Amino acid sequence: MSNDARYITTPIYYVNDRPHIGHVYTTTLCDVYARAMRMQDFDLFFLTGTDEHGVKVEQSALAKGVTPQELADENSAEFRSIMESFHLTNDDFIRTTAPSHMSQVQHFVTKLLESGDVYLGTFEGWYDEGQEEYHTETNARDLDYTSPISGKPLVRATEQNYYFKLSKYQTAIEALYQSNPAFVRPESRRNEMLGRLREGLQDVPISRTNFSWGIPMPNDEEHVIYVWIDALFNYITGLGLGDVDGEWYKERKKYWPATYHVVGKEILWFHSIIWPAVLMALDLPLPKCIYAHSFWISEGRKMSKSLGNFIDLEKIESYVNEYGSDAWRYYLVTQGPLGATDADFAAEKFHDIYNAHLVNTIGNCASRVTAMIQKYFDGALPSEYNGDDRYTLGGVDWPSRCADAVERWQHSMDAFELDKAIHAAMDLIRDVDLFINDTAPFKLAKDETKQGELGAILYQCLETLRIASTMLKPLLPEKMEAFHQAIGITNKSDAGCNTLDWGYLKSGTAIQKVALYPRIEMSAAT
Ligand code: MSP
Repeated sequence: MSNDARYITTPIYYVNDRPHIGHVYTTTLCDVYARAMRMQDFDLFFLTGTDEHGVKVEQSALAKGVTPQELADENSAEFRSIMESFHLTNDDFIRTTAPSHMSQVQHFVTKLLESGDVYLGTFEGWYDEGQEEYHTETNARDLDYTSPISGKPLVRATEQNYYFKLSKYQTAIEALYQSNPAFVRPESRRNEMLGRLREGLQDVPISRTNFSWGIPMPNDEEHVIYVWIDALFNYITGLGLGDVDGEWYKERKKYWPATYHVVGKEILWFHSIIWPAVLMALDLPLPKCIYAHSFWISEGRKMSKSLGNFIDLEKIESYVNEYGSDAWRYYLVTQGPLGATDADFAAEKFHDIYNAHLVNTIGNCASRVTAMIQKYFDGALPSEYNGDDRYTLGGVDWPSRCADAVERWQHSMDAFELDKAIHAAMDLIRDVDLFINDTAPFKLAKDETKQGELGAILYQCLETLRIASTMLKPLLPEKMEAFHQAIGITNKSDAGCNTLDWGYLKSGTAIQKVALYPRIEMSAAT
């Protein structure tokens, strides 16, 4: 991987479910990071897709009277279409039923058989049928022998299967967690995994014989590869790492190892223990960070279809239609469960955040500044300088204030601290508002002799807003681009679209008055 290459992934989504807020949330987080990296000219690859094998897909297809492939085709297409309709800028959309993925998985499993990391054996354990997941005795006891997801009892299951020698990697995984404390984030999730590591790692089955909808074991057609192993490989098959002839995705190999695998907390075990062990067994570099977010609940309760608080696609669309796609992204990313605790999706809170942050902060400040340039300078951007010293105005050194904010933004984006990155931009906007109150341009406008000072103040305000809006563009692409258009950055290939350096705007540029985010009354629709 070159220094400039970055690779971010979402989990791949099960096709036996319909898209909902959980899927859109994880993908939106990755999208914001991807856009921010591209904006800074990093060579970035963003992958999402669908997880299409497994007993649940086979059973749902049977119940519907279609083939598993037909069901997978239909539901995968729906996931793909939400990426497009929500402007999620993934570079590819992987499907685990694609021949390129399937043959690469077989290649990797063959290697694991050859190295002895996969072997045939017998297993007995507590199985969660809904999640297709085994639990250790201790874990099963803690869960009261009930699935934490479906609430159904865990069942005692015995199988002859192929196993992955996870136990062999106990020491290596412990060493990984010690030497790289940021391998799993946030820290509370890392501690959970350390706790599970202390229980001791046991070998895990990686094949099944009780259904056929999966990738066959390369050496034994009776067995299909366990859906979780099949799915985890997507992160490297999508880059062609298992392509023996080297023809597939040649240009993508440079993206491995991943910068971030972004996942939900319930699937961290697979990503932060099993996946690195598999990669170690294959002698492949490890991802840099597994970031596990928490869950959305809705109106204070766990989301459920029967409670009527489920945020499904239709519900998401009603918010997007009413408040706009920027507002939806803003709420998701700034109010969401990026940290250790679950977050509440509540209609009233959505409405309040929209008004307080987008209407009253960003929208109001942008309209205030552009309106004054219209009114006092006929819409032509005045000059940056007031005589020989711009910095005495209101006591703020705006170029260095902006440079500090940009540095904070860059650092936080890089570290996937999206909330902090957004704060850096929002704080700048709030400071512009305070600066306007302090310097009172509307009073200066009444004094003919203060024209230079007035112009210089408005220049500082608009240039600072341009920089803040550029930092917000990965989160709010729609309206920040509209704002750029209004302040004379009309060409998308224009350096002004992305530059975070002070002084891009030139005096004399025609500036239009903007109204970015309309005030909206709270309706019953959402
Ligand atoms: N197919 C597996 C992942 C395999 S990755 C190698 C899977 N798929 S899933 O369709 O269930 O989607 C999981 C993603 O949706 C996770 O990131 C999960 O956290 C997210 N969400 C599902 N419900 C959620 C909430 N209520 N809130 C936030 N995200 C949650 O697991």
